[in-house]
Amino acid sequence: MPQLLLLNGPNLNLLGTREPEKYGHTTLEDIVENVKSVLAQHQIDLAHFQSNAEHELIERIHSAKQEDIRFIIFNPAAFTHTSVAIRDAILATDIPFIEVHLTNPHRREAFRHTSYFSDIAEAVIAGFGAKGYEFAALSAAEKINSL
Ligand code: DQA
Repeated sequence: MPQLLLLNGPNLNLLGTREPEKYGHTTLEDIVENVKSVLAQHQIDLAHFQSNAEHELIERIHSAKQEDIRFIIFNPAAFTHTSVAIRDAILATDIPFIEVHLTNPHRREAFRHTSYFSDIAEAVIAGFGAKGYEFAALSAAEKINSL
């Protein structure tokens, strides 16, 4: 039974070819494999879901509650800056999560400086590229195993 959900928002399926000067060359498949291997060292199974659709992300968060997912690592991508609906879904499930961004949105356009998630996240990791997901996985594993 997976205990941790890695959730990725819109356009992150294109990682590797999408604006590589900003987002790097690592693909989403590579990121998932790297997170899996960090978690395996802590005997934690991973579920992964990526969607370009807001309602699909909301439904995945709802089902995480039923599956007893203990922790979420979430890059909401552009929905970071727009989605009250996804924020409410997370609040409804009350599952702790770490917000991850490949880039540091605060160094970018002003519209990226607002996050609907940072004030309810356990932690925010931004600007470390694909490595940020591994940092989040390590920290989430320690939290899960200490609960
Ligand atoms: C992102 C930052 C967002 O502003 C952007 O819309 C993304 C990716 C990041 O990982 O740096 O799609 O979440």
